[in-house]
Amino acid sequence: MNRLAIDGGNPVRSGESFLVFGSPMIEEPEIEEVVSCMRSRWIGTGPKVHQFEEDFRLYKGSKHAVALNSCTAALHLAMFAAGIGPGDEVITTPMTFCSTVNAIIHCGATPVLADCDRLTMNISPEEIEKKVSAKTKAILPVHLAGRCCDMDPIMRIAREYDLLIIEDCAHAIESEYHGVKAGRFGDIGCFSFYVTKNIMTGEGGMIITNDDRYAGRIKVLGLHGLSKDAWKRFSDEGYKHYQVIHAGYKYNMMDIQAAMGIHQIKRVDRYWKRRQEIWKTYSDAFTGLPCFLPPDVEPNTKHAYHLFTPLIDIDRLGKSRDWCLSALTAENIGVGVHYLPVHIHPFYRKTFGWKKGDFPESEWVGERTLSLPLSAALTDSDVADVIEAFRKMLTR
Ligand SMILES: Cc1ncc(COP(=O)(O)O)c(C=O)c1O
Repeated sequence: MNRLAIDGGNPVRSGESFLVFGSPMIEEPEIEEVVSCMRSRWIGTGPKVHQFEEDFRLYKGSKHAVALNSCTAALHLAMFAAGIGPGDEVITTPMTFCSTVNAIIHCGATPVLADCDRLTMNISPEEIEKKVSAKTKAILPVHLAGRCCDMDPIMRIAREYDLLIIEDCAHAIESEYHGVKAGRFGDIGCFSFYVTKNIMTGEGGMIITNDDRYAGRIKVLGLHGLSKDAWKRFSDEGYKHYQVIHAGYKYNMMDIQAAMGIHQIKRVDRYWKRRQEIWKTYSDAFTGLPCFLPPDVEPNTKHAYHLFTPLIDIDRLGKSRDWCLSALTAENIGVGVHYLPVHIHPFYRKTFGWKKGDFPESEWVGERTLSLPLSAALTDSDVADVIEAFRKMLTR
């Protein structure tokens, strides 16, 4: 393994030579913008947030984009603004990050899980339909790893049962399906700019919607429930009184975060191409090994290439996935797991009575999945190191 010189570039190595999983690409313009934001002393929500919202809105082609401080906040407010609350059920997948389900719980609603397809790892439309009840208010699809869910049948179910669609697009900034961009299928799309994401602002999130009422409510709810434009209250137009019109939340994005976003969004296609290249290199290099590679990208869709997630063929290998995680770590390769299924975690088991065996496809994935580094910041030599370590682990 080579040790990468830390020379002001984009090192994804820490310590001697450990390849950090999910290390972001950071370039000079955002560093300068953050510094100039700090020098301006306008650090909180202001003009840079507005610019980032507008840039993202144009990128997605939506009517509105509202920046928040995380995708978790976006999911919470999306459902809250859409009127989802106690007594309502929201159908989502067990194969997601806990915050998808927590956001449903924070609204007072009940999460209902529908199992995934084992190869795409995305929620199965057939399983969704089995879970629709008189209490179902919304479907919350998660476009896992950047591969769009099978949205045609999901939209058919939503229409048939009059359900809202709120998309978790944390992995899906660039994703498209049958000519529609992720986040634009239904009512509200929620995005993440957490450090490991395809473009990042440290922490950060965004909702997109074409609905004026949802956008207006989310703006107000994201800043304490203060009346419109309240953030301007300290501007050079003079102090403005505000009215509190809801018991809102503190979910606003800061200019210092948007300072990164406005430069990162300009490179979204360049970073996507680099990750696509790495993805293809991995897929070619790992053919024939005891693992199930991510399936080809479906026709007429665009994969965001957020995560590269081989499923270890543990029967053929005779070792567990966790053994593989340790083996790769010992080779100085940082890894992730996306995910242990939601229903396995103690809180949800205790609260909803979910148990092992309830969602067999998700469990099958959860026992086999691991994620390899796929950042645009990886050098060719990093990619070669990952390939060497992964091959060595599966052929030793
Ligand atoms: C599928 C999914 N949903 C939601 C989130 C929450 O995003 P954030 O960290 O911006 O709140 C994540 C974060 O990793 C995620 O992977």
